[in-house]
Amino acid sequence: MLRKSWLAGLVLLGLAGQSSWAFQDASDPFVAIPDLSKVQDQPAEIQVPKGLPPLTPNAVVPASNPMTVGRIELGKQLYFDPRVSLNGTVSCATCHNPEKGWSDGQVTTIGIGGAANGRNSPTVINTVYGRTMFWDGRAGSLEAQAQGPVQSPTEMGNQTHAQIIERLRQIPGYRDQFMKVFGTDVNMDGFAKAIAAFERTALSGNSKYDQYVTGDFKALSESAKRGMVLFGLRLDMEDEYQPEDVVLKKANCTSCHIGTNFSDEQFHNLGVGADKNGKLADLGRWAAEPVGAKNVASIGAFKTPTVRDVTRSGPYMHDGSEATLEAVVELYNRGGNANPYLSKDIKPLNLTAQEKADLVEFMKALEGEVVPVALPKLPPGPDGTSPDPRAALAVPTAAKAAALPTAHRLMSSE
Ligand code: HEC
Ligand code: HEC
Repeated sequence: MLRKSWLAGLVLLGLAGQSSWAFQDASDPFVAIPDLSKVQDQPAEIQVPKGLPPLTPNAVVPASNPMTVGRIELGKQLYFDPRVSLNGTVSCATCHNPEKGWSDGQVTTIGIGGAANGRNSPTVINTVYGRTMFWDGRAGSLEAQAQGPVQSPTEMGNQTHAQIIERLRQIPGYRDQFMKVFGTDVNMDGFAKAIAAFERTALSGNSKYDQYVTGDFKALSESAKRGMVLFGLRLDMEDEYQPEDVVLKKANCTSCHIGTNFSDEQFHNLGVGADKNGKLADLGRWAAEPVGAKNVASIGAFKTPTVRDVTRSGPYMHDGSEATLEAVVELYNRGGNANPYLSKDIKPLNLTAQEKADLVEFMKALEGEVVPVALPKLPPGPDGTSPDPRAALAVPTAAKAAALPTAHRLMSSE
């Protein structure tokens, strides 16, 4: 009996592996014995902006992937390099563009050759503080996450890890850097670690809210202060402005958007994507839970995203169905979209027009200080040319894939 259900679980897992991203395949050159005598790398000191917790090694940053100058630099190149994709047109930055709030401005993302993907691109901002990755939390770390999209037919192409690694090995600049940083040839483990190290530098803080919290009471407008109280946070007792008619936590946002990064890291059903009959288009967290440990409350539930820098990363929600922050507030005000699995913390709020505007003002005050990201120079390939990382920032189309010069279509993959 036990054995039978164990087998059934395996079969189901196998099926799930085919319909979603596979994180490893047997041919991966994952295992490589490093030659540590070749490593020439320095620890990197990351100064976090005001309001964010420090990137403590072995805690916030995993012990297996310390922040070093070489890892961050290499990761940045890989992040912006379209040669990671099957036809050389899509980079991580296509869908997580620092100039678009580390997202892509699309309702749901468009990947290689114009392929449609059912979900909205989440921001990479502050993912260093995240406990799980993806809207359904199916990856446990940034390192695990980075290995998924490269193999996704609707993102970077239907290709194996081995093919990607083989292609990157033909770029001498990458071979040199992998040796200096990891003491190995190019491999998937280093690829994922380097990209994760770079992503951990994408931080949003020192917002007007952070300035307020650290004693600059003038940083927030009166409307933003009322929004802060409605959201669920107390004003500083020393602040002269203490509106008496505003009910603390009336909008109940801190039930889920809590802590320094405004996320409880849990999964909730707001009814996003539910039709008039309460039928959900995407099962969310439930589908990601292991067979045998599925929780009914996870049906249609998605991870609470940060609301830091949220002004820059619309449209909103896992399916991009809310175009503006005003529309998001309307959704909460009506108590979400009815469906059998709606979170108990989502109820009609009866907000006045002024209160809705105040909430939006508060979210605007969570916009972080702008940290410009200079595009990296990408190492030249076997033909001596390097792609322009900017070209991959445009939304992919079928025409763009076809028009690519063969030199950039990159060997070994087809
Ligand atoms: C075609 C668009 C596309 C490309 C290319 C892409 N992503 Fe994503 N990314 C997405 C979408 C969509 C999601 C959410 C998917 C889901 O939740 O199922 C996502 C999720 C993520 C997350 C999780 C964030 C969170 O808060 O949970 C990270 C981190 C990330 N991507 C980094 C990367 C990296 C690194 C690369 C390159 C190796 C990359 N992405 C390539 C579209 C893309
Ligand atoms: C029960 C938990 C919960 C409560 C309460 C809650 N949120 Fe959310 N919030 C979420 C989840 C989960 C999502 C993503 C839902 C999805 O995509 O299906 C989300 C998404 C958002 C987004 C979109 C962010 C993005 O990047 O797409 C904004 C903005 C937001 N919430 C603001 C608020 C405000 C303002 C309040 C209070 C009025 C609030 N939330 C109350 C859990 C909650």
